[in-house]
Amino acid sequence: MTDNTIYLDNAATSFPKPDCVYAAADKYMREMGIAFGRGSHAGASDAARLVAQCRQRLAMILDAESGDRIAFTFNCTDGLNLLLRGVLRKGDRVVTSTLEHNSVLRPLQQLKSEFQLDVVHVDFDPGTGLLDTNSFVHELNSQPARLAVLNHASNVTGIVQPVEMISAAAHETGALLMLDAAQTVGHIPFSVRDLKIDMLATAGHKGLLGPLGTGIVYIRDGLEDEVLPIRCGGTGTDSESPLQPLRMPTKFESGNLNMPGLAGLNAAAEWILQQSVADLHRRIHELSTQLAQALRGIRGVTVFGGVDAQNVGIVSFSLDGMDSQDVAAVLDQSFQIRCRAGLHCAPLVHKTLGTMPAGGAVRLSPGSFTVKADVTAAAEAVTRLAASL
Ligand SMILES: Cc1ncc(COP(=O)(O)O)c(C=O)c1O
Repeated sequence: MTDNTIYLDNAATSFPKPDCVYAAADKYMREMGIAFGRGSHAGASDAARLVAQCRQRLAMILDAESGDRIAFTFNCTDGLNLLLRGVLRKGDRVVTSTLEHNSVLRPLQQLKSEFQLDVVHVDFDPGTGLLDTNSFVHELNSQPARLAVLNHASNVTGIVQPVEMISAAAHETGALLMLDAAQTVGHIPFSVRDLKIDMLATAGHKGLLGPLGTGIVYIRDGLEDEVLPIRCGGTGTDSESPLQPLRMPTKFESGNLNMPGLAGLNAAAEWILQQSVADLHRRIHELSTQLAQALRGIRGVTVFGGVDAQNVGIVSFSLDGMDSQDVAAVLDQSFQIRCRAGLHCAPLVHKTLGTMPAGGAVRLSPGSFTVKADVTAAAEAVTRLAASL
């Protein structure tokens, strides 16, 4: 990327990362380099310390019971597959939403035919971007469900969903609650214990500011017996046993971990705790609100998601008479603004928003290193483009 490139695609992956993330990954590769849990030498304890520290820091960010409740994955999709495939059984009923990303929709579709699942997708209000919670609760009450799966914040609109109500209804009816928190962890402060989340998956490379190739799952204390491991193999522990270890986190961590990635994620988690998630959110929210307001004032532009609900800092819009991919191409080629256009792997969201005919929407997502001049330049670019039509 050149110096004058404006990166507004942080919802896909955050960029740049704090300097300490690059330094930690580089240091691991050059100076440590060992496989976690597999060495009988001095370096092994350094690697073990790093992994334990990373789990602990992430547990603090999530307000989890302890670091052991966190297992590492390779991205959010990996974690969602682990949880869905691990927890669902033949004939189960699942209540979910049209807000979901393909990393929930597709595994559920696959499991639906393998396990004859009954899967219900509850819609959201295209004006506010908020889930129809009454229908979701009704679905949970009307027939027993094994699982409620919810996208915590849409990667299209950025709107944060009212998890409290869903959590209460899920627990009253005996369903487990699982969150796809790809767009919220590191972006907004919340507590998995206060919200009574049973399971959660997120990426390490988005709001957590770690390297690509990192992700985590959280499984609440006492629940891991309900989740079968989808990948079995060497864990560096209990090697005499032919069986997969039963306890968190090793039960779900077969094969070598992405140690350079985790070194970077550990440094990122420390940086986030120093800054505080609330402060990081405040900054991004200010920038995205300014951007959304400016775009709303441009003729022919529609910004998606309501203004009243909490937003993680995503601004998606359409421009009348232009395909979303063409808008993104102009922003990239004429204004050096990097964004993401299309369906954002969330086809049902665009169906409800009515953006399918325009090829989806254009998504601008500021990050922790975005400055006011970046969003001003983006608003100006869209203004010029709209005026040229
Ligand atoms: C809501 C949501 N869920 C899941 C994912 C998948 O994340 P990953 O690329 O880390 O697998 C994304 C990525 O954009 C997302 O926005």
